[in-house]
Amino acid sequence: MKIQDLEFKKFISESTVTEKVAELRKHINHDYKKKTPVFLPILNGSFMFAADLIKGLDISCQVSFVKISSYQGTQSTGQLKTLIGIEQSLFNQDIIIVEDIVDTGLTLQKIIEELTSLGTKSVEVVTLLRKKTAREKGVAIKYIGFDIDEEFVLGYGLDYDGLGRNLKEIYKADMPTPEEA
Ligand code: IMP
Repeated sequence: MKIQDLEFKKFISESTVTEKVAELRKHINHDYKKKTPVFLPILNGSFMFAADLIKGLDISCQVSFVKISSYQGTQSTGQLKTLIGIEQSLFNQDIIIVEDIVDTGLTLQKIIEELTSLGTKSVEVVTLLRKKTAREKGVAIKYIGFDIDEEFVLGYGLDYDGLGRNLKEIYKADMPTPEEA
């Protein structure tokens, strides 16, 4: 399948994703049995994963979709990122961030710092995919769907240049490995 300039091939089937999401849901049901967490799915990439994960949870919970906005700082430090769309007090709440994919972990680190500064009770992360870099850096993620290598993926909410979010399965870019290049 070709999207823009890149060729993609099937990577994770719809049924494998469904099974994994059910497994993650089971863990969260168990761990948050006596709590009422607030899910914060990070738009846009996590919309499909968040919907499937949250649909059918047995626990009492709230959901609030948020977005990360990048704005140019006034200093030469470059791009600063901030969470937008939080419409309720998160003070003393148990938060579960819902991410599509964690690569360097920098986005996640910023989000966690920001949430912690709001006086949250606890902050945990559930991500569908984790790339090798995040794994090697030991980014703290409690619930992980799939560990993958340094490959570019799309589908099931994830995009390439805005395209491909609608796909039911996860695809990966068919690029030569560094050794082959
Ligand atoms: P990080 O800050 O490097 O962890 O980047 C995380 C964000 O980059 C994710 O939430 C995605 O929006 C985007 N991203 C990283 N890798 C991919 C990929 O393989 N496909 C699509 N988006 C990606």
